[in-house]
Amino acid sequence: MNTTNFTKTYYINRRGTHSRKWDGEHLKFSRTDLLPLWVADMDFMTPPCLQEAIANYVKTTPLGYTMTNPNYLDAVINWYKCRHNCNLSKDWLTSAPNVITGIMWSIGAFTKPNDAIAVLSPVYGAFDTSTSDAQRHIVPIAMRRTTDNRYTVDYDAFESTIIQQDVKLFIHCNPHNPVGHVWTEAEMAQLFSICKRHDVLIISDEIHQDLITGPIPFRSALSVSNGAYADNMITMSSVSKSFNMASLHHAEVIIPNDELRSQYNTYKALVYHTDSDVIAEAAITAAYTYPEAETWLNTALTVIRENYEYLCRELLSALPKLRISPMNGTYLAWIDFGAYVMADDMHDVFENQCRIAPSFGEWFGGESYATFVRLNLATSLTNIKVATHSIIEHIQP
Ligand SMILES: Cc1ncc(COP(=O)(O)O)c(C=O)c1O
Repeated sequence: MNTTNFTKTYYINRRGTHSRKWDGEHLKFSRTDLLPLWVADMDFMTPPCLQEAIANYVKTTPLGYTMTNPNYLDAVINWYKCRHNCNLSKDWLTSAPNVITGIMWSIGAFTKPNDAIAVLSPVYGAFDTSTSDAQRHIVPIAMRRTTDNRYTVDYDAFESTIIQQDVKLFIHCNPHNPVGHVWTEAEMAQLFSICKRHDVLIISDEIHQDLITGPIPFRSALSVSNGAYADNMITMSSVSKSFNMASLHHAEVIIPNDELRSQYNTYKALVYHTDSDVIAEAAITAAYTYPEAETWLNTALTVIRENYEYLCRELLSALPKLRISPMNGTYLAWIDFGAYVMADDMHDVFENQCRIAPSFGEWFGGESYATFVRLNLATSLTNIKVATHSIIEHIQP
């Protein structure tokens, strides 16, 4: 299926469906008549084979108490092997209702109040709120932006901050939301070896792992340096971004180290006592097994890439001083409007003039990112054209 047919078949008007992105603008914006490009989900229907897998489960199986279905575990292991060339062992797998809950439980299980938790900023804002809600102390370590708008790490600064702030946990994000960077094995080996040297536990949030649209392949933190750091990490993922199933509550939490896994599971048992979510398991098994699901995903990635290329081409020809970071992973474009719009005017320009609801830069690390927006490109090219032309019309070169 080509991208035009994909959009024709799967794009859906979500207004009136209680979608947070489309119906929840009042939660974050000053008006509700905006084109929403904020919340990170897709405006495409879930692949039909997954709709059928869910319906079929409900039609054929009573929704009574269950145990984890081994087919689900095999499907996850198979996906990591075939799509990411990463070998998992079945007993490493545990779970959470979603990735952020898994991160919160890990914070609870492995750190104490006031412990320092490091992130590379700018980064997904829920890392900060999960940390501060748990009365831990967030330590943002700013990445450097190169002249071609890529983000890199100053490893000396990373290490000295870890030492000075006595950091206990590092939350890594790969691919990185919001900057779209896909971390190479060499970069991760540097970060993780510093963590290892200073006894810093690693959480690797790999929820965007399947959304690779640039030349750098995704590599799981688990397989960096042939698994040399796997004993010191907790890896999280789910189908929610890849197959647009964020409202099904189940995430994989992968912990190779027996002691850490047992510590996590003990904490989990204190706060959460329930069986597996059978509908999520049925959907995940199908998503990771059916070739039609992977074909859907790959075509969605082509749509997203086309949207990104359109956006870059049109915006940069009208506003050449915009700084757009290379979107190698995720479906989120990270753009600095600082050459054209003052930080204090960003909300007015985007909400009242362009009539777009973006994710504002300050949500990813505070005022230093106030001239940035993150735009969600997992929508129709038509919506991206509307947004692009509106930006060009309302922002003076
Ligand atoms: C990096 C990252 N982690 C976690 C989440 C949220 O995942 P979940 O809904 O599974 O908690 C998001 C959603 O945007 C994300 O971008």
